[in-house]
Amino acid sequence: MCGIVGYTGHRPAIPVAFEGLEHLEYRGYDSAGIGYGFQNKLEVVRSAGKLKNLSEKISHSTTALTVTCAIGHTRWATHGVPEERNAHPHISNDKSLILVHNGIIENYLEIKENLVRKGYTFHSDTDTEVLVNLIAEERKNQPDLLHALRIALQKAHGAYAICLLERENPEILYAARMAAPLIFGIGIGENFVASDIPAFLSYTRNVVFLEDGEILVADANSYSVYRSDDLACVQKQEQCIQWSMQAAQKGGFRHFMLKEIFEQPQVIKDGLTGRIREWQGVVLPELDNLTIPRRLHIVACGTSYHAGLWSSHLFESWARIPVQIEIASEFRYKERFLLDPAEDLVLVISQSGETADTLAALRIAREQGVTTVGICNVVGSSIAREADVVLYTQAGPEISVASTKAMTSQMTMLACLAIYYGERKQVLEEGREEKILRALADLPKRLEEALPVMHTEAKRLSRKYAQAKSFFYLGRGHCFALALEGALKLKELSYIHAEGYAAGEMKHGPIALIDPNFPSFVIALNDRLYPKVKSNIVEIQARQGHIIVLTDFNVDIKVDDIWQIPSGMGALGAFFVLPCLQFFSYEVADYLGKDVDQPRNLAKSVTVE
Ligand code: AGP
Repeated sequence: MCGIVGYTGHRPAIPVAFEGLEHLEYRGYDSAGIGYGFQNKLEVVRSAGKLKNLSEKISHSTTALTVTCAIGHTRWATHGVPEERNAHPHISNDKSLILVHNGIIENYLEIKENLVRKGYTFHSDTDTEVLVNLIAEERKNQPDLLHALRIALQKAHGAYAICLLERENPEILYAARMAAPLIFGIGIGENFVASDIPAFLSYTRNVVFLEDGEILVADANSYSVYRSDDLACVQKQEQCIQWSMQAAQKGGFRHFMLKEIFEQPQVIKDGLTGRIREWQGVVLPELDNLTIPRRLHIVACGTSYHAGLWSSHLFESWARIPVQIEIASEFRYKERFLLDPAEDLVLVISQSGETADTLAALRIAREQGVTTVGICNVVGSSIAREADVVLYTQAGPEISVASTKAMTSQMTMLACLAIYYGERKQVLEEGREEKILRALADLPKRLEEALPVMHTEAKRLSRKYAQAKSFFYLGRGHCFALALEGALKLKELSYIHAEGYAAGEMKHGPIALIDPNFPSFVIALNDRLYPKVKSNIVEIQARQGHIIVLTDFNVDIKVDDIWQIPSGMGALGAFFVLPCLQFFSYEVADYLGKDVDQPRNLAKSVTVE
């Protein structure tokens, strides 16, 4: 998620904007920039990398301390690699506007083609540069920037939070939002715009939350908010923020992990943006020139491995592609690789794109001449750069060491990939594709509604089971991957021993461990495997094992705790199971006083063997 700041007031604006960007650093970024107007010219100073690089550049500018209005940006790359030319602010061809943007303009390529036909030139790969020139183009036929913004934002489809300055009035901030956060801070003789409250919390606690489809126009002493469709004035409710700076960076949540669990509906939405074509198929142009593999090797570590294991059921069921799922640290040390470049494809999954074992596996596959696809969250990461093709998961930076929204974003991309291959192979039954796509598209709203209820139940159960010394997590079919993930989450967050197992394996030894002090968390969804899972539950009960059953229907069994959740279509039910496993581990760890966001011994990205 990019960070936006805007300031207009009585202070030197650039230091205030820079400080605002520093308070947004926690959101993660790979380039930054600041823009302002001076002597009837718009200036932008930008740099790749961290804010210190930008600071060095600004310190050489003589105008830095005189301007009292500026906009700033930290960029989390979605379109275009993290280089200075792609950093924000972007300036229009006619140098009349500069703009910073958070979000994705879905139809930017179409708009860009139209502008190129009108003689516009582009110097970056970003949708943002297209947007600023679209606004400049519309400005030619409108009485003022506000009217030009209205027309331009009707043409731009997708998500945006923007802030812009115009050369003619460089002390006035213009801002607008659609499906991306933007907050207006109201000071005395000064006003602020930002993606998030921490950017200006040290100056003012009085805020107005802009809503989708609203445009803000603000100078140092006044502001107006308009509806972008008809420019009708909107009366806004000013609010006073009580949060501390640290709490504000977590959006008011206790931990980044909790914030990121609640971000998952948006992550699914962002992952599907631009990927579903009128319920008729999935759009993955990145893969159109690759042949369809006859065998898929999925290679990853940790949570990413669990996402891959879960997806193997989709590739086999929806696309009829056999999958070999491998732990990267095992794959890389095989004696012999039975990979066939003509038939195989290696799919590596990595949130960070820097995991050493997964990167090594990718390199081995390439040495074998096998086509490689990377599913990554970090644009420009090593795996993203070295894979033949990269598919970005658009989850935004994941701050908490325990991976949550990243797995959901990976599952979203993997589901799209399975549908894509099923469609290309023409093996998806008639009408099934539309049903799956609609079920996927419904997930964000349904999950948004379900998360608070899940969190409450997780909190209740966590207090009841927090003293357990060991836990089994059990599942069958695609739920086996979720059982592994649930056990990993409990282990890495609460330091309680937990084992994820295929439920059918219990009778082959593990059931010897069951006693009243060794509870089991059983995932029992309403599918063809339920009768078998039910038998496993009965076996555990016969040995006085305590059981939590996580289910999406009225199970016909009596156990210690039944946790009801919404049902999904087939394996898509996993999108409702996963947050429960995350909430439960989070609440146990928090209740036990563990360092939830930075568990002991763990690193966010394991770049060593
Ligand atoms: C998951 O909660 C862990 N943080 C860890 O297992 C992680 O998933 C694993 O290290 C893989 O990381 P990657 O996705 O960045 O490659």
